[in-house]
Amino acid sequence: GSSVEVDIADLAPGAMKVVEWRGKPVWIMRRTPEQLAELETISGLADPASNRSDQPEYARNTQRSIKPEILVAVGICTHLGCSPVSVAKGSANPSVPPDWSGGFFCPCHGSTFDLAGRVFLNKPAPTNLEIPPHFYLADSKLLVG
Ligand code: FES
Repeated sequence: GSSVEVDIADLAPGAMKVVEWRGKPVWIMRRTPEQLAELETISGLADPASNRSDQPEYARNTQRSIKPEILVAVGICTHLGCSPVSVAKGSANPSVPPDWSGGFFCPCHGSTFDLAGRVFLNKPAPTNLEIPPHFYLADSKLLVG
């Protein structure tokens, strides 16, 4: 079928790998404990509980994931489909606020997303990044699709 199997055993904390699923880039990121803690404190989100966003029911939580530390998200901006880029915490990128705790920035029209793919208010993208269907075949073996 169109499912993609991914080995995440070598994915270090804070690192991301990209796989292609149905012609779309899918980001797989292992978030650090600090990054996970910060997800709980973030405010100013457009759809904080992911009520309007596209994800499987099992990923409709703060982390938007099955395993808290592993983000699996479609890397396509929900505004007009550009490719957001990763912007680290403490980055000097003037497009993100000074208290930025890390996430993704869309260079096309400036939408910003946190490390759960949740979009910030006052930006054109209306909803959070899409979370594709996925599940774990084994502890570090992921199936996307
Ligand atoms: Fe990303 Fe418009 S396409 S902000």
